[in-house]
Amino acid sequence: MSTRDECVALDATDALAPLRDEFTLNEHEIYLDGNSLGPVSRAVSKRVNEVINEQWGHGLVRSWNDAGWMAMPTRLGDRLAPLIGAKPGEVLVADTLTFMLAKLIGGALDQRKDRYVVLTDAANFHSDLYIVQAMASRAGRPITVKAIERSALEGELSEDVALVMLTHVDFRSGEMLDLKGITTKVHDVGALMLWDLAHSAGAVPLDVEGANVDFAAGCGYKYLNGGPGSPGFLYVRKSWQGVLENPLPGWLGHARPFDFESEYVPAKGMQAFVTSSPSIVALAALDGALDVWERASMEQVRVKSLRLTDLFIELVEARLPDVFDIATPRDHAKRASQVALRHAESYGIVQALIERGVVGDFRDPDIARFGFTPLYLRFVDVFDAVEILVEVMNTELYRDAKFAQRNAVT
Ligand SMILES: Cc1ncc(COP(=O)(O)O)c(C=O)c1O
Repeated sequence: MSTRDECVALDATDALAPLRDEFTLNEHEIYLDGNSLGPVSRAVSKRVNEVINEQWGHGLVRSWNDAGWMAMPTRLGDRLAPLIGAKPGEVLVADTLTFMLAKLIGGALDQRKDRYVVLTDAANFHSDLYIVQAMASRAGRPITVKAIERSALEGELSEDVALVMLTHVDFRSGEMLDLKGITTKVHDVGALMLWDLAHSAGAVPLDVEGANVDFAAGCGYKYLNGGPGSPGFLYVRKSWQGVLENPLPGWLGHARPFDFESEYVPAKGMQAFVTSSPSIVALAALDGALDVWERASMEQVRVKSLRLTDLFIELVEARLPDVFDIATPRDHAKRASQVALRHAESYGIVQALIERGVVGDFRDPDIARFGFTPLYLRFVDVFDAVEILVEVMNTELYRDAKFAQRNAVT
């Protein structure tokens, strides 16, 4: 079993270790929830302050022209593109994720007008299930949305299928799906593929280009550390641009927004997927958050992420044998950057851990979820977090009545 000294030694030689200083983290707290809300970084505070005090404060309305505000959705898209394996001009940062999915689902369904089935995962994030159903019911033809078991996907693929919409990394278990393999099978029957990359962007290396993905979307507040409610991103493969229509058109996606024409004419490229005024302060936060990626490659992050999750699994198994069912795959090819532990008392366990300074979260019905974010997490943090988990379990602290009270956000 790994020792604390070994963890300290790993931290001493970790090339990513200096990046921790870029983030604001509470002293004596181990933050294992960056898969839900990433922490703020110095560059975020700096950029947001600049925008508020200088661009908005002094520039006022002139800053739409002078400070490049109008170009922020596409400029940030270009900054984010390498993290998902896209090219410049293929990514847009604007609305939050569910809206992005709505745009892509609506646009995609119009491209397969002779098909009447949409496939998705029964275990998909509930917002994805709601929005796909809502968009399908408004597609102007009867469409059946089939929320199926992931393992049944191949059997369900047929020439009736217009669109397959999946989340690449399961938000509960952390299981990662085969981006390229699935996309290829979906294309083999002539259907389109839309991936939700919420738990993938900034967590694992992605190659949407190489996998021939049609469309993808993700959020900015998890592993990208863009802040609560940060704008999300949308990817449209180059070959679909100018073909795929934005079903939620607005003035800023128009080719000539300040001509105030009553007829909608889409702008060229990704700008056509902008609907309304960009949230400049929120975009500035994400812009700052992206700075850290100039000092870290996704490949470095992946190597450390797997070491961190391996270490956590190893220590939990060694120190708490048979206490938890580990829902996250051991196979590196199927594991992203979180570990999910199943236990009937998971809610209380997570609350007790938070009180003891280890922040994770709970996902219904029985998952204690821990995110491992290599930009600011140390190996020694993993060791110490497991020590505290052992204490919580051995003392049965989680049974305290105060930990039974469900918060609105779990
Ligand atoms: C997999 C997945 N999809 C969609 C969403 C919804 O994102 P938003 O609130 O930005 O619309 C989330 C939120 O956490 C998510 O985890």
